[in-house]
Amino acid sequence: MSHQMHKACDFVLFGAKGDLAMRKLFPALYQLDAAHLLNPDSKVIGVARADWSQEEFVAQVEATLNRFLKEGEFDAEVWNRFSARLDYVKVDMTAPDDFKKLGQAIDQSQRVMVNYLATPPSVFGDICKNLSYAELINDETRIVLEKPIGHDLESSKVINDTVAAYFNENRIYRIDHYLGKDTVQNLLALRFANNLFNSQWNNHAIDHVQITVAETVGLEGRYSYYDKVGQMRDMVQNHLLQLLCMVAMNPPSKLDADSVRDEKVRVLKALHPIDSTNVHKRAVRGQYAAGSIDGKAVVGYSEEDGGGQSQSNTETFVSLRVNVDNWRWAGVPFYLRTGKRMPEKTTEIVVVYKNNPHYIFDKKQQDMVSNRLVIRLQPDEGIRLHVVMKQLGMTEGLNLQNRALNLDFTSDDPNHRTPDAYERLLLESMVGDQSLFVRRDEIEASWTWCDQLIDAWDETGDEVKHYNAGTWGPIGSIALIERDGRSWHEE
Ligand code: BG6
Repeated sequence: MSHQMHKACDFVLFGAKGDLAMRKLFPALYQLDAAHLLNPDSKVIGVARADWSQEEFVAQVEATLNRFLKEGEFDAEVWNRFSARLDYVKVDMTAPDDFKKLGQAIDQSQRVMVNYLATPPSVFGDICKNLSYAELINDETRIVLEKPIGHDLESSKVINDTVAAYFNENRIYRIDHYLGKDTVQNLLALRFANNLFNSQWNNHAIDHVQITVAETVGLEGRYSYYDKVGQMRDMVQNHLLQLLCMVAMNPPSKLDADSVRDEKVRVLKALHPIDSTNVHKRAVRGQYAAGSIDGKAVVGYSEEDGGGQSQSNTETFVSLRVNVDNWRWAGVPFYLRTGKRMPEKTTEIVVVYKNNPHYIFDKKQQDMVSNRLVIRLQPDEGIRLHVVMKQLGMTEGLNLQNRALNLDFTSDDPNHRTPDAYERLLLESMVGDQSLFVRRDEIEASWTWCDQLIDAWDETGDEVKHYNAGTWGPIGSIALIERDGRSWHEE
């Protein structure tokens, strides 16, 4: 997470015509240029199979920026600078000689080559092999991989082995875009720069933790991909477990990539298994039925385009009760939930503190919630600490009320713009800092745990429970937490 100007790069974007590149990556690169964070000599080289001329490619990028940047963000001067960096090479990923052509656009004596693979993992192997054939891999060449890294442990190993045959681990940058979100990094600052929190970050002070990643969107035309994957693989295996690691990890001895990732792996390895013996108590799967979002009717999962009214058992919602088997977290459950077609888009971590051991106020007020630290990742990034205070004024007795100490990151500065997670990650891949990228052993530890849970669903013949779009998932998700005498946080 360095801020020095990096060495000039040839940033090669494989899959330049794809949805991710157009929607997220080109806008992120443009924003980096607008913020003067790109080395003046860096180039952006789009690679795809499309028969585009250089001019057509530049026009496509301009169109995508106009479409996906917010109003007023497209600036002629920045565009002049950015468009001058753009280059396009038509490459068939399976054609070795096309990579020789790509080599002509690269200058590794002047610039570091960063290869961003926004392509399906099935072509990772061809790309690596052909980069090697064209002699484009040297000790500085990097490779950035988009998810999914596999469907399970075995397939992730195959992908990792394939890439490892050409790149050392310290040249491989696996993206989990949640790690690029500003407030996720702020968790490190909150925990490790504030002894107030650090000293209370354990099972003596904390009762439980909740992590919610809710989306209002449904499948957005991705049925054929999503139906084979489901919410467990699409969101829990990566984003939710990464958030859990950031909350649960021990302080790293240094803030370098390996120290941080060593601690995250320890958490993943300490996750208590959910298997066929406990899956019915610890995990709930749901699938949305028709309902309404923001007052608008929406169809159910099986009626989505591509669904063909089928009786799919793929989950669009998961909630879990997870334990971390170590000294810090013994007896502190982590409740995780994530779903599509929820009532609102929100990503939030809630740390719920234990109550004092002895209650001295009017018993009628005893239900007043305990201290809670609410870390909101999106939207409206901020951190809120709920405290219990006396009501102001001359009330009879000591009447308590809940108040919140509020750190609202979006309102501090009227010109505030929250950078997209990809901006941070693309920049870090150019800088060469792997702290915000996922190491191979993290992916494998995470799949090991998830595979066991997914197998348990298969073995026990678990059927998804339906919930209406626009609600917080099946009733079982509420029961999952209420059985323990707790409830999902609501503001
Ligand atoms: C992606 C998932 O990784 O994350 C999508 O594949 C999901 O299904 C998306 O919609 C959510 O990301 P964000 O940043 O909008 O919360």
